[in-house]
Amino acid sequence: MSSLSPLPAATGAATAAFLRPSLLPPKKSASQLSAYKSRKPYSPHFARISCKTSSSDKEPNNNDQTGPTTRRDILIGMGSLYGAASSLSDPTALANPLQPPDLSKCHPAIKGDAGDTADCCPPFSDQIEFKLPSPKEPMRIRPAAHLVDKAYIDKYEKAISLMKALPDDDPRSFKNQANVHCAYCNGAYDQVGITPSVALQIHFSWIFFPFHRYYLYFFERILGKLIDDPTFALPFWNWDSPDGIRSAASLTPEAQWQSNRDVMHTQMVSGAKKRTLFFGTPLKAGDLADGNGQGTLERTPHGNLHIWVGDLTREYKEDMGNLYSAGRDPLFYCHHGNVDRMWDLWKTLGPRRTDFTDPDWLDAAFLFYDENCKLVRCKIRDSLDNEKLRTGYQSVPILWKDSKRVPKKIRNKATAATATKKKRELTDLSEFPLVLNKTISVALPRPRKNRTATEKEDEEEILVVGGIEIDRSQVIKFDVALNDDDDGAPAGPQDTEFAGAFVNVPHRQKAGASNFKTVLRLGITDLLEDLDADDDDTIVVTLVPKVGEPVIGGLKIDYLAD
Ligand code: C2O
Repeated sequence: MSSLSPLPAATGAATAAFLRPSLLPPKKSASQLSAYKSRKPYSPHFARISCKTSSSDKEPNNNDQTGPTTRRDILIGMGSLYGAASSLSDPTALANPLQPPDLSKCHPAIKGDAGDTADCCPPFSDQIEFKLPSPKEPMRIRPAAHLVDKAYIDKYEKAISLMKALPDDDPRSFKNQANVHCAYCNGAYDQVGITPSVALQIHFSWIFFPFHRYYLYFFERILGKLIDDPTFALPFWNWDSPDGIRSAASLTPEAQWQSNRDVMHTQMVSGAKKRTLFFGTPLKAGDLADGNGQGTLERTPHGNLHIWVGDLTREYKEDMGNLYSAGRDPLFYCHHGNVDRMWDLWKTLGPRRTDFTDPDWLDAAFLFYDENCKLVRCKIRDSLDNEKLRTGYQSVPILWKDSKRVPKKIRNKATAATATKKKRELTDLSEFPLVLNKTISVALPRPRKNRTATEKEDEEEILVVGGIEIDRSQVIKFDVALNDDDDGAPAGPQDTEFAGAFVNVPHRQKAGASNFKTVLRLGITDLLEDLDADDDDTIVVTLVPKVGEPVIGGLKIDYLAD
């Protein structure tokens, strides 16, 4: 997809087959990879920030927000790094939220092997604290991209081209905005005050949703300012609706939609009953994002769609197919509009679907440039309510709330399928860790069965695929199915037996080693009921490699309270 096209979603590139197997180009040879040119020393920072808009050619008024953060504010904000020992009575003293980066220490981001880097560092300046917009500001209602009219497209196109025309020393330029993502994702920042250094990474954990909400918030306000429209709102790519997607894939539109709808149901409803399943697991200051499990939605469809619209013929799958370059495609911001909308929707889907209250989440903070070129320090706690950010979404039908999946065995019986069903051959648990280079099935004992409704509500039964080790720079995908008979093809998203998928969007965050260790956790309480397997002592877990050959450390059943 060309990053020059300002309107990818409206011009027909919007395809959504969340679980389409991809054809990978052959890997680069070692000699190709090592034949990188020697680079001149990096000099990322601009001495001075320019902030001229086309609509008013004046520098912004510095007094329109609170003044620059003082050193004292910064130290207070750094709580555990500087203040913990001095205030033992302070209940927050042990809090350890992720800190925003020190922009003056930004270094080149890592694109690939052999020191191949990307220069993504933003200019830096004094920080101010984030303030919610006035409740009197008009709401910016983000429209579904497939429903906008010509006037909106013209406006959007104009705003994007004005942003692209801003000079490189303007932190609001399209290039600098795209680089925000690159720097936060591909190792340009180390976590402040942590030795030995730990890369700052805003994916693969509970940080994912709020970081991207703020990113869009500022991106949108900059665009609005450039066209002098305080109501300007980004379009969102409504990939959870049959009308918002198109696919040239082999499936019929109906079959594609059925599969997408069922995936949405799993990722938002049945598989996301606990906070850590939906948002991802905690990440605190000093933690490496690697060991964490990403949330259902971040994995699929978010990750799958990045890969789908990335250019798989390019070495790093630019633009959308690699985290370092994803922000260069305007589609990124439409994609993340819908991702952000899912956060709001998830909270409406049932009891206990609320934001975390842990101060380590609420006080985690990031830095963004606002529409006035001010560097703003934003805490997660101010991002929880879109209405307070004066942001909302056009209301469109939600068609995935109820599951319509049918177990394969029932469907095959009904259609008198000729496939011969047989039990899958089993791999013994003692054979782990193993390289997943073919479909395998494992019989997994369940510690508890026939739990009461309350027990199930209190604790979600989860399937843990642990010790996953992959090359983080590659597209890696595998599917997971439960109690799937061998009838020729493994269960797909349209089958009840399908439990979920692992997907990695290529990225690097360090020169040298690119191995990535992670965990996949799938909520399966509802699924086991649908499969009529709730009183079984064991379940058969089938792992189906789709792209790449991950190492799998082991499997187990666990119970998750939050
Ligand atoms: Cu920061 Cu869609 O990725």
